[in-house]
Amino acid sequence: MNEYGFNPTWSDEQRRLALLERCWNPPTIAKLKRAGVGPGWRCLEVGAGNGSIARWLRDAVRPNGRVVAVDLDTRFIANEPSIEARQANILTDEIEPEAFDLVHCRALLHHLPGNEVAALKRMTAALRPGGFLLAEEPYSGPMIGSRTPAWAALWQAFVAAMPHADYIWPLSIGSAFRAAGLTDIEVSGAADVIQGGTPEAEFLRLTVEAVRNRLPPNVNIEPGIQLLRDPHSFEPGFVVYCALGRKAQ
Ligand SMILES: C[S@@+](CC[C@H](N)C(=O)[O-])C[C@H]1O[C@@H](n2cnc3c(N)ncnc32)[C@H](O)[C@@H]1O
Repeated sequence: MNEYGFNPTWSDEQRRLALLERCWNPPTIAKLKRAGVGPGWRCLEVGAGNGSIARWLRDAVRPNGRVVAVDLDTRFIANEPSIEARQANILTDEIEPEAFDLVHCRALLHHLPGNEVAALKRMTAALRPGGFLLAEEPYSGPMIGSRTPAWAALWQAFVAAMPHADYIWPLSIGSAFRAAGLTDIEVSGAADVIQGGTPEAEFLRLTVEAVRNRLPPNVNIEPGIQLLRDPHSFEPGFVVYCALGRKAQ
C-alpha cells in the first residue's frame, strides 16, 4: 500500500496546502465550470486536502446538490457545512457505486505509484454513466532538468526525499484514463514559471521544508532555496497535467 509523503500534523502543512490552492485553483475551477458543474450535481472530491475545491463545489451545486470530500486525514475539512467529509483511503475504502456526476482529484495520483489506474478505476466506479472524471497532476521534468544547477539540484534532492511519489507519472495520465475505461478523454498541460518571492515560490519552498529531514545529506539545497526567494529569478515549475474523461453511457 502507498505511503503518503507529507505529514498533515506539520505546523506549516495547512499553509502549504492553502498556497497550492491559491496558485492552482483558478485553472481547476475553469475546468470544473467547463465540465458543467452546477445546481443539483453530486460531486466527489478525492484527496481533498485543505478543502477549497470541495467548498467551491458545495457552493456551485446549491441548493440540492451533494459534495463528498474524501481524504486519509480530514482535519482541514471536517465540520464544513454541507460537505460530507469522509476519512478514507481511495484504494481500499468503500465508495457508493454510480452515485456521482463528477469525481475530481488533484495532486493525488502521483502519490499512489503503481496504483494510479486502480485509483482511477475506483473513482470511475463511483460515477454514474456519463459522469465526468477530472484529474490534475504535477510533472517535475522541467525542474529536475533545469540548466540552472542550483535549481536542478534542489528538485533532484526533493524527488529523492519522496520515494513514495512519482512526479514523472503525470506524463501517463491519458493512457491511465484509457486503462480505467474512460471515454471522451482530453489531456492538457500547463507549465509554470516560478518567480522568486511569489506565492508560487513560497508554496514550493514549504514543499521542500516539509521533507527537509529526508533530503540527501550530501546536497546543498540553500542556493536553490535562494532562487525561490529572489524576485529576479525565473525558473521552471511543475507542468500540471490535466485529464478529463467520461464514464461510458
Ligand atoms: C498534495 S495534497 C493535495 C490536496 C488537494 N487535492 C489540492 O490539490 O489542493 C494530497 C492529498 O491527498 C490525500 N491522500 C493521499 N493519499 C490518499 C489516499 N490513498 N486516499 C485518500 N486521500 C489521499 C492527502 O492526505 C492529501 O490531503
